[in-house]
Amino acid sequence: MNLSVDINTLTLKNPVTVASGTAGYGEELSRFYDIKRLGAIFTKGLSLKPRAGNKGNRIIETPAGMLNSIGLENVGLEVFLNEKLPFLKRLGATVIPNVAGHSEGENCALCEALSHTDGVAAVELNVSCPNVKEGGMAFGRNLSVFAKLIENVRKVTKGTLIVKLSPNVTDIGEFARAAEDLGADAVSAVNTFLGMKIDIQKRKPYFLNRVAGLSGPAIRPMAVRAVYEIYSKVKIPIIGLGGIARVEDAIEFLMAGASAISIGTMNLADPTLAVKMIDGIEAFMRKERVYDVRDLIGIAHRQ
Ligand SMILES: Cc1cc2nc3c(=O)[nH]c(=O)nc-3n(C[C@H](O)[C@H](O)[C@H](O)COP(=O)(O)O)c2cc1C
Repeated sequence: MNLSVDINTLTLKNPVTVASGTAGYGEELSRFYDIKRLGAIFTKGLSLKPRAGNKGNRIIETPAGMLNSIGLENVGLEVFLNEKLPFLKRLGATVIPNVAGHSEGENCALCEALSHTDGVAAVELNVSCPNVKEGGMAFGRNLSVFAKLIENVRKVTKGTLIVKLSPNVTDIGEFARAAEDLGADAVSAVNTFLGMKIDIQKRKPYFLNRVAGLSGPAIRPMAVRAVYEIYSKVKIPIIGLGGIARVEDAIEFLMAGASAISIGTMNLADPTLAVKMIDGIEAFMRKERVYDVRDLIGIAHRQ
């Protein structure tokens, strides 16, 4: 049985990863299982300096999902390099830091520093966070701003560069193609969908930032559609995510064209889900007599 997959030049031992912002820096998940079993861990979006995140309400449950307005709270580059990464390395985890700078310069500095650091398997550039005023989705929704950012980040990033796309655009395939043309090695799809909640007692938006990011099973069909569409437009690998809760969901993403999958919100409901998913994918393959997981990738396009 082969479970390993290729994200361009990076080989993951299996296609199951945990998504940025839902796995911290691995400390909490490592209390539940051996995190070196994961294909990779995407750590929380990093800025150069530590960030406190948004004030006010930050999360609320929705039908089959949640809205979050965390605002990229993180420890900053220095603490990440001196404390979080050494911890993850000691556990043997495959680490993919998620980069979320306020500006193009900050993103370049972060990607350059991280990609030249031992123990960093790849860098994921987040151009799709809906919860910050500067950076984030402002990069991921305007094609010319997006292209200039990727071009400049690519110049300074060594090794595998993954670009995390925003679903809050008319044509996500167009952004994936631009990323590919400008030298990205892979794309992640998708980040959260823009959503909102009104506090009807207070008669105003529940989040201070007004809008928030919707995630969880509620977004899954839209995320599968995004992956399917991207696969038909680019040759670079896709990391598929959005509402994955069951083995069947992960298989759907692989068949739609994802080379690997990420578990996000559902880590919060079941922290052991990712390891169960590895075993579940293997069991599915055995039952279906598929001996190489790579044979499932994009198969829905060929039927
Ligand atoms: C609480 C929370 C924090 C998140 N933080 C980040 C982040 O720092 N960087 C990032 O690229 N995505 C972040 N995301 C988005 C997830 O990585 C993922 O793309 C999205 O939630 C869709 O997957 P899911 O439905 O499985 O959660 C966050 C999501 C949640 C719920």
